[in-house]
Amino acid sequence: MKKYIVTGGAGFIGSNLVDVLIERGDEVHIIDNLSGGFEENLNPKAIFHKADIRNIEEIKPLFAGIDGVFHFAALPRVQYSIENPIETNEVNINGTQNILIAAQLAGVKRVVYSASSAAYGNQSTMPLIETMLPQPLSPYGMQKYVGEHICRIWSEIYGIETVSLRYFNVYGPRQSSEGAYALVIARFLKQKKEGQKMTITGDGLQTRDFTHVRDVVRANILAMESDKVGKGEIMNIGGGEQHSVLEIAQMIGGEYEFIAPRIEPRHTLADTTVAKNLIGWEPKEDFVKGVEELKV
Ligand SMILES: NC(=O)c1ccc[n+]([C@@H]2O[C@H](COP(=O)([O-])OP(=O)(O)OC[C@H]3O[C@@H](n4cnc5c(N)ncnc54)[C@H](O)[C@@H]3O)[C@@H](O)[C@H]2O)c1
Repeated sequence: MKKYIVTGGAGFIGSNLVDVLIERGDEVHIIDNLSGGFEENLNPKAIFHKADIRNIEEIKPLFAGIDGVFHFAALPRVQYSIENPIETNEVNINGTQNILIAAQLAGVKRVVYSASSAAYGNQSTMPLIETMLPQPLSPYGMQKYVGEHICRIWSEIYGIETVSLRYFNVYGPRQSSEGAYALVIARFLKQKKEGQKMTITGDGLQTRDFTHVRDVVRANILAMESDKVGKGEIMNIGGGEQHSVLEIAQMIGGEYEFIAPRIEPRHTLADTTVAKNLIGWEPKEDFVKGVEELKV
């Protein structure tokens, strides 16, 4: 049995990981301010600390005796970061630095950081490989990219083990369907359920590499446990297939309309060789089945 902190454990991906850790018999401490997460996502067997990662003095004592930290807490929306660059900077960059400081001071062995494919921005070739020069297109993409450097630097200078996982569009149970910035699959399912037309941004031919949350959870556990990593390594965690936004609307079925495009990369597709080599991870979930599961 290990003692873990899961920041953002009331959110979509974090809460899915918490359930698996609790199922294994680990002791789990959730740090979340419930700004984007939900009380109903909180596993009742986890210990919940309602706290803000921007406040280092508030969170520091929670790290005593912890073996590892899974850091999910963030303001994870591109559009929101464009409208609120200061607030998102404080949470996504300063908050991440606070987590590394608090973990290192408490002698925590390893932090697994939720990075993002948003770091890549537009690249001229696919698939996206970790050695490409990141070109983030938004404050969010830039902030998540800075978080990777914080992790690496904290490993190099202060000796705490870190790993950064760059997720590609995560979908699955508990994905957020609220608000204007919900991710595409959740938004389409909600619009269909409410009898509205699905709104496709731009021409809908932009493609995404969708990754099932169960695959992301498995990657986190492997990254925490693998003895080949811990020095700030960065690796893609993606489904490895491209699907266009239009194709998803057609898979879900029903009426759709086109709305103004957003500032977003045209395509994403993960090369996952590094994750396979370093932590033995490959995507396992089938996309069509994964979306079908969410329809019911
Ligand atoms: N969902 C995706 O497709 C995706 C893709 C790439 C990377 N990521 C990263 O994965 C992580 C989790 O994303 P998610 O989709 O589960 O998001 P989410 O919004 O569902 O979860 C984030 C959680 O962080 C909490 N939080 C926000 N600010 C906080 C603060 N100041 N203090 C404490 N808690 C705070 C929220 O309340 C929420 O529960 C994020 O770091 C995100 O950048 C997600």
